Amino acid sequence: MQKIRRLLATDLDGTLVGDEDGLRELLRYYEAQPDPVALVYVTGRHRASAEELIREERLPDPDLLITDVGAAIFEGTGLVEDPDWSARMSQDWQPDQIADEASGIPGITRQELPDNRRVSFYSEGPEPAGELRERLRAKGIPHTFIFSSGRDIDILPAGGGKGEALRYVTEKWVEDGADILIAGDSGNDRDMLTIGHPSVIVANAQPELSELGAREGLFRASRPCAGGILEAWCHFYGNPK
Ligand code: GLC
Ligand code: MG
Repeated sequence: MQKIRRLLATDLDGTLVGDEDGLRELLRYYEAQPDPVALVYVTGRHRASAEELIREERLPDPDLLITDVGAAIFEGTGLVEDPDWSARMSQDWQPDQIADEASGIPGITRQELPDNRRVSFYSEGPEPAGELRERLRAKGIPHTFIFSSGRDIDILPAGGGKGEALRYVTEKWVEDGADILIAGDSGNDRDMLTIGHPSVIVANAQPELSELGAREGLFRASRPCAGGILEAWCHFYGNPK
């Protein structure tokens, strides 16, 4: 794949997807650009679920697809899994021990997933999630803990997460000085919104993102979903045609 010079890295649910009119407007805008804008989808879904959404919503095929909250990276038209990232994510990864620690906590239910690249749960509010976080810390099990939408717990290998996966992608495939925009709406997007590139929080974002204080390069859109992405792209890189 050629090095990318313009890039939108976006979460799917509640960010790129959620407002059909805004989505079509954003895609028309990108199609009219003289220089192509590469698309990286960065989602909490597993691969099959992400592909289903791409089909259902008639989204353009991405140049790269990051799934499972950053636990897997797929490249190019064939969406081939990146072996180096995958090897990195297998180091010190103890999914069974993590599931064991969670199994005795009331208010926590395991999510059914096709593989154990990550271990995810539903938490009845923040307390059970906090309890699990504490147990994993006390046991010294290496992991990355991500809580979002007041409900979803994703536990990934240490060094995982959307931010780290996207950092890896930009180092490997993106030119220095490229136009980059990163877009998100919930807690699992927090670490990619703060890796140091221009970023947007769409107007419909979860309250957990309001804790992110104002910082340079972080744009808070007044429009929801894809309309907010367009607003931010124009803010950073020009005006709509
Ligand atoms: C998506 C995934 C779910 C994950 C959540 C938060 O809803 O389907 O498994 O826990 O995102 O990342
Ligand atoms: Mg989202």
